[in-house]
Amino acid sequence: MSSGIELGVRLFKLIEKRVFAARFPPGRDLLRFLLSIILFCFVAAAFLGCQTKEDDQSQRKSKAKKNSKQVATYVGHQKCAECHSDIVETHLNSPHANTFATTKESEVAQRLCRKQIELDEVYGTYHYQCDEAGVTVSIPEKFGGKLFPLDYALGSGKHATTLITLMLDAQQETINVEHRLTWYAEDETWDITPGQENDFPTQPGDYFGHTFRQPNVDRCIGCHTTTVDVVGRKLENLYANVQCEACHGPGSLHVAAAERGDEDLHLFLKSRWSAEAQIKMCGECHRNPDSIEPDRLKRYPNSLVRFQPVGLLQSPCFLKSNGALSCTTCHDSHTGIESRSHEQQIQTCLSCHQDANQVHCPVSPAGNCIECHMPAIDLVKGLQFHDHWIRVRRDQYDSPTEARPQPSKSIGGEDDD
Ligand code: HEC
Ligand code: HEC
Ligand code: HEC
Ligand code: HEC
Ligand code: HEC
Ligand code: HEC
Ligand code: HEC
Repeated sequence: MSSGIELGVRLFKLIEKRVFAARFPPGRDLLRFLLSIILFCFVAAAFLGCQTKEDDQSQRKSKAKKNSKQVATYVGHQKCAECHSDIVETHLNSPHANTFATTKESEVAQRLCRKQIELDEVYGTYHYQCDEAGVTVSIPEKFGGKLFPLDYALGSGKHATTLITLMLDAQQETINVEHRLTWYAEDETWDITPGQENDFPTQPGDYFGHTFRQPNVDRCIGCHTTTVDVVGRKLENLYANVQCEACHGPGSLHVAAAERGDEDLHLFLKSRWSAEAQIKMCGECHRNPDSIEPDRLKRYPNSLVRFQPVGLLQSPCFLKSNGALSCTTCHDSHTGIESRSHEQQIQTCLSCHQDANQVHCPVSPAGNCIECHMPAIDLVKGLQFHDHWIRVRRDQYDSPTEARPQPSKSIGGEDDD
């Protein structure tokens, strides 16, 4: 702006000196003065007009900059590590960063090499082998030497790992066969995948696992990866695991801004969520209430404790704390749960439940709040979840272990109670 006005003033002075001085000899000063003012206004208006156009242009440019937000692309955590090495290093050891692998890469899947596991007379005995592509399974007594591939391992193995295979059905649609056996960390064994206990095989593929169709193929793989396109039997543009940009969004514009040294780096990244927005972001994978049937939501069967955002969003602690409680009040987003001890978690409860002006526990004001108000519930075989619907419970006077739920039929994709 200022350079335009300067130019205008300089031009005015030039015209005034050269033109008027010549036409109006001394003595006609008043007329010269008046004409000068008119000229000044004219020049100034012309320049201010140009200036406004320039401003329009720069505004349009900055709008274009904002629009280019939509073309932010994934750059990968190796790139983030150039400036956030400590977070990347911590995160690489977290379950999020280890929840998807090919069976060739997966240490858990590789334990199957040359193993034989007897199921029952219906299914027979699985014979596993490993080759260049990964792990395969066969049932020689039923299908001779035919090998069934096992492509990917989902779940870090901290709690469980399930293998899946992508295939094409007769209509050339992608299907996902979730293998019948799952690795359970609790007793370090392969056992029936939750949800498949009552399956009975009717086609050859059924002998190896349960078939999922779209949209559940995309969803299953989607929640365990940062970005991917399922195309036929292939995964294109695969960026495996829940990495930085799965939560923060694609980072290319943030990185470019940081490299230029821009002051405002954050516009291009998701990082400052309100409590509710953060809970719902986590809930895109950990499940939000809107993905649960209203009737189930109302009944709140034990199987729902798997979905922490569902419980938390209906807790008085969340509802009545004015946005002060989110997932990261109690969890570090870049590590596993053990980064905070129960002792530390109790201190977090007490940060809102200790002072005289706060609501505090009449029963056990310094006890283990988690055991009574967020008890761990066994869903299947050692897969435990803490009920995030923090509340005074009907079963609270009982020992928490007596409040055992019915086992749920399924983990993984579909989850009925
Ligand atoms: C060239 C250096 C650089 C790279 C590469 C980079 N960042 Fe940053 N990032 C910064 C700087 C500088 C800040 C501001 C200071 C700070 O908070 O550390 C920042 C801040 C952030 C913040 C906090 C924003 C806020 O609201 O305070 C997040 C989240 C973040 N970066 C995520 C990422 C992710 C994810 C990647 C990889 C996709 C990445 N960064 C790559 C330099 C970088
Ligand atoms: C893109 C999907 C996705 C998003 C988004 C996501 N998670 Fe997860 N989360 C997972 C998956 C998958 C696992 C299972 C990891 C494994 O295989 O053990 C997991 C596991 C966890 C665990 C268990 C870690 C452990 O030590 O056992 C915690 C805690 C967790 N997530 C918290 C969060 C929080 C908090 C957020 C939001 C800030 C979040 N997650 C967002 C997919 C996601
Ligand atoms: C809507 C997102 C979502 C979908 C769809 C999904 N998962 Fe997960 N998965 C998660 C999250 C979040 C966790 C961690 C917490 C939990 O166990 O619920 C997880 C955990 C797991 C675990 C480890 C168990 C554990 O408790 O840590 C396995 C194994 C697994 N998923 C396999 C699958 C398979 C196989 C499919 C598809 C057939 C699938 N998942 C579909 C989000 C999802
Ligand atoms: C599961 C979701 C999730 C993943 C994956 C994730 N973040 Fe974050 N990150 C968050 C949340 C939520 C916050 C805000 C924390 C808070 O409000 O306490 C955050 C905060 C940050 C911050 C600013 C605060 C700080 O701790 O310095 C940076 C920088 C950051 N993340 C970088 C990264 C990088 C780099 C990665 C990949 C290695 C990553 N994040 C992976 C959810 C995630
Ligand atoms: C950010 C603050 C905050 C944190 C952290 C917090 N709470 Fe709360 N909690 C509240 C508020 C506010 C209420 C509602 C009090 C009222 O009714 O006025 C509440 C209510 C409760 C109630 C009564 C619920 C009912 O059914 O009426 C229990 C029990 C409870 N909290 C336990 C806990 C436990 C256990 C923890 C830790 C795991 C915890 N809270 C962490 C703020 C918090
Ligand atoms: C042995 C089980 C037990 C433990 C441990 C326990 N509570 Fe409670 N808490 C209860 C019961 C039972 C009630 C309901 C009391 C009643 O209404 O008579 C309750 C009530 C509450 C309330 C609601 C009080 C009100 O006036 O509405 C809060 C808040 C609370 N507890 C917080 C905590 C916190 C924080 C801790 C950990 C420091 C904790 N509790 C530890 C059993 C427990
Ligand atoms: C008031 C504290 C608190 C809040 C808020 C909270 N959690 Fe937790 N969470 C816990 C505690 C305590 C555990 C048990 C940790 C342990 O045993 O080490 C836990 C465990 C978990 C686990 C492991 C599986 C399980 O259920 O035991 C996951 C996954 C998880 N939380 C996700 C979330 C997500 C997602 C959010 C936000 C919707 C969230 N948590 C909010 C306290 C909290």
